[in-house]
Amino acid sequence: MTQQFEKVRALTGMKDILPHESAAWETLEAIVRDWLASYGYRNMRTPVLEHTRLFARGIGEVTDIVEKEMYSFRDALNDDHLTMRPEFTAGMVRATIEHNLLYDRPQRVYCMGPVFRHERPQRGRYRQFHQIDVEALGFAGPDVDAELIVMLARLWKRLGLQDIRLELNSLGQADERAAHREALVEYLEKHIDVLDDEARRRMYTNPLRVLDTKNPAMQDMANNAPRLFDFLGAESREHFEGVCARLQDAGIEYTLNPRLVRGLDYYNLTVFEWVTDRLGAQGTVCGGGRYDGLLELLGGKPAPAVGFAIGMERLLDLWQQSDAVTDTSECDVYVVHQGDAAQRRAALLAETLRDAGYRVLVHAGSTGFKSQFKRADASGAAVALIIGPDELASGQAAMKWLRRQEGDSRPQQESLPFDAIAETLKTRL
Ligand code: HAM
Repeated sequence: MTQQFEKVRALTGMKDILPHESAAWETLEAIVRDWLASYGYRNMRTPVLEHTRLFARGIGEVTDIVEKEMYSFRDALNDDHLTMRPEFTAGMVRATIEHNLLYDRPQRVYCMGPVFRHERPQRGRYRQFHQIDVEALGFAGPDVDAELIVMLARLWKRLGLQDIRLELNSLGQADERAAHREALVEYLEKHIDVLDDEARRRMYTNPLRVLDTKNPAMQDMANNAPRLFDFLGAESREHFEGVCARLQDAGIEYTLNPRLVRGLDYYNLTVFEWVTDRLGAQGTVCGGGRYDGLLELLGGKPAPAVGFAIGMERLLDLWQQSDAVTDTSECDVYVVHQGDAAQRRAALLAETLRDAGYRVLVHAGSTGFKSQFKRADASGAAVALIIGPDELASGQAAMKWLRRQEGDSRPQQESLPFDAIAETLKTRL
């Protein structure tokens, strides 16, 4: 009797990125690194695991992320409360404080990698997903808020994205939000008869969220509620106008969305999101804003900061709907061969072609020429090199172009001395 082992599958909401998909990821990552470097941002890499209290304090105890979505557990060895990062900002701020990065100058930094939230999976929403997180630490002025937004517009343009729009709001400062909240609760109490159960439940814990309702019977009430914007003092207004003026300078359109509050507690002043209708229900590609209080809240010297994170799965989805052209080939040159001596010569030749910068695959496994050519074709290579006993004897390989276009002046197949192949490829590939 043979034993049948059970298949182990990936966790719900956690996706494998397979070889045919990874070319698009790598191309996107390369474009993103160039783009970030062109604005002077440098990479930092923080741990996936952090103390739970970092996120509880940083993101806020009464947020969906901290209340319901974190992968948290006790370290079995020392009983520490640990959490898989649900975002980058808190960890990056912790590292900035811990290594005193702001002691003599501000910092422009970014992280790229997986983050974890236990949400209900659907298109564009996963439990392990990837973010490009960009933070400008130690900058107070609206110039940097605007620069981040202009920078994002440049990336969208570079990627040829269509139908992505900017929503903008200002959350003012804590005292302004408190005054607004008081007025809002009073207003909700006056309109208690139109509030549904959920709104009644939330009106004291998170009154702003009550306004974010889809209930048609509550729309009039929500539209006429006191607006946070009207509670902003002169300084907050000036900051916001500074951002808007610079966006106008750069020709960037935006919509003022007074209901944009974001799902994390650390924000003040500028908040923004880039959204699209092309991704179904999960249309927010990027979100961010200013968080001037977070460094102090996490035990550092007070310092202003602003940043954003892009959801990479959503960005890729949108990019692939535009004109993303990615090369999914495995190699440039595929070497087919017959016989042991030819295989060894092929391996050596491949090394010299790699020296010249080509991506080369030497066929492995003993099969006939026909199936080797099939593999060569499937690899996406531009060229197949053929080394059989005759080629070995003459010191010349046969070179065959696999992807000739109509009217291509290159010969379909030609013989070339082994040491002339790299040069010939340079002029013809
Ligand atoms: P966030 O809005 O929570 O902000 O996430 C940023 C982006 O991550 C979202 O706009 C979305 O594209 C993507 N995202 C969020 N949840 C999921 C999910 N479950 N599956 C796939 N993609 C998702 C932050 O994380 C802040 N740390 C951004 C920030 C940086 N603010 C200042 N600096």
